[in-house]
Amino acid sequence: MSKKVLILFFHPRFEDSQANKELVSAIKNVDNVTFRDLYEYYPDFHVDVKLEQQLLKEHDIIIWQHPFYWYSCPPLMKQWIDLVLEYGWAYGKDGDQLKGKYFLSAITSGGNFDVYRKGGRNNFTYKELLQPFEQTVNHCLGHYLPPFIVPSALRCSKQELQNYGAFYAELVAGIQNTETPLQEFLKYNYFNDLSSEKWKALFYKQQ
Ligand SMILES: Cc1cc2nc3c(=O)[nH]c(=O)nc-3n(C[C@H](O)[C@H](O)[C@H](O)COP(=O)(O)O)c2cc1C
Repeated sequence: MSKKVLILFFHPRFEDSQANKELVSAIKNVDNVTFRDLYEYYPDFHVDVKLEQQLLKEHDIIIWQHPFYWYSCPPLMKQWIDLVLEYGWAYGKDGDQLKGKYFLSAITSGGNFDVYRKGGRNNFTYKELLQPFEQTVNHCLGHYLPPFIVPSALRCSKQELQNYGAFYAELVAGIQNTETPLQEFLKYNYFNDLSSEKWKALFYKQQ
């Protein structure tokens, strides 16, 4: 059965976006996806905690989609995490509402894999810099899927961004519909590492 996907999208200046615009437009064609532009809903940062928690409960896979800002997320996403992932709900005593859910970071970046490595200009890999999100998910008893990165987002041509959009749409439909346990994907570093053919083979191997 198709899993329900919730995309929580955070972009403080979406009107100026190139990369995320392509990702968002590609994802609109995927069924069974709830897409939420959080800066549209909460321009004043007053997050509706109960509503956000209810949405999390209703979905199996949660995608945090955002541009990489100062090696992290835009501030509304941090606010969302701070407010929504409450003690006694997401973690701590009786806090197991996210247990077993899958989380995925879908990130556009001005840099690329060559500068995000040991010895590269940014010293650390994307995976290393995303560890606070990975550990947040671990702490809430969820599973953190390999991130999907759009590198060199500011230098990509429209066609390249559209290709990333198609890749993203395929990825979301894949993780949603595959019969392969999502656990099997946890061993990969990035979803980028899977060629389209390889992930199609993985996603659809039992069908
Ligand atoms: C405030 C700010 C901070 C940024 N920090 C980073 C960063 O730490 N690493 C990086 O790779 N790109 C960084 N960038 C570049 C953005 O990631 C890039 O502009 C964005 O992913 C492009 O997507 P968009 O076209 O949807 O806006 C930053 C951009 C801004 C405006």
